[in-house]
Amino acid sequence: MFEDDIQTIMFSADEIAAKVKEIGENITCDYKLMTEDIFCVGILKGAVMFYTDLVRQIKTNVKFDFMVASSYGSGTKSSGAVKILKDLDYDVAGKHMILIEDIVDTGITMEYLLKYCRGRGAKSVKICSLLNKPSRRVADITIDYVGFTVPDEFLVGYGLDYDGNYRNLPYIGVLKPDI
Ligand code: IMP
Ligand code: MG
Repeated sequence: MFEDDIQTIMFSADEIAAKVKEIGENITCDYKLMTEDIFCVGILKGAVMFYTDLVRQIKTNVKFDFMVASSYGSGTKSSGAVKILKDLDYDVAGKHMILIEDIVDTGITMEYLLKYCRGRGAKSVKICSLLNKPSRRVADITIDYVGFTVPDEFLVGYGLDYDGNYRNLPYIGVLKPDI
């Protein structure tokens, strides 16, 4: 049973749902007076669960877009080079964007995507991440909307993977060290 690979549950499905609702309310509050659409950009694949739950808690017009980014580097050490594997579908020049991510770790991916979206002429770009792991931060970025701050442990579930697995767990847990 794959759930046997989980050492502890850090955030239950209910805790995640409550936090996602709260973030959605904050975003609604900040953007509701805006007449323009918000371009919500999910960073695949990790953000997929968070994205689909979050957008349903945002009570104003949003447009869906997605990006896939990969950071080069071996193992857990990132070289700092980020490559966009799937680009935006929309022309975001003059648009308000929110980048929706599962976890900000070193921050290298988000720093790159932030610069990239600004380079595409977006009017504003905010970052929304369910999890924040500040202990390993390298890039100096501001996360505008954050769910939970987490310790330096390897987390899986609710979109987060280890070697492509565990994304479908409904909660976020710590993987057993021997896995
Ligand atoms: P960074 O902020 O550029 O270092 O990269 C963030 C990405 O690293 C996230 O989108 C995840 O794909 C991955 N990542 C970082 N920490 C974890 C973790 O604890 N579990 C699973 N993936 C992680
Ligand atoms: Mg990710």
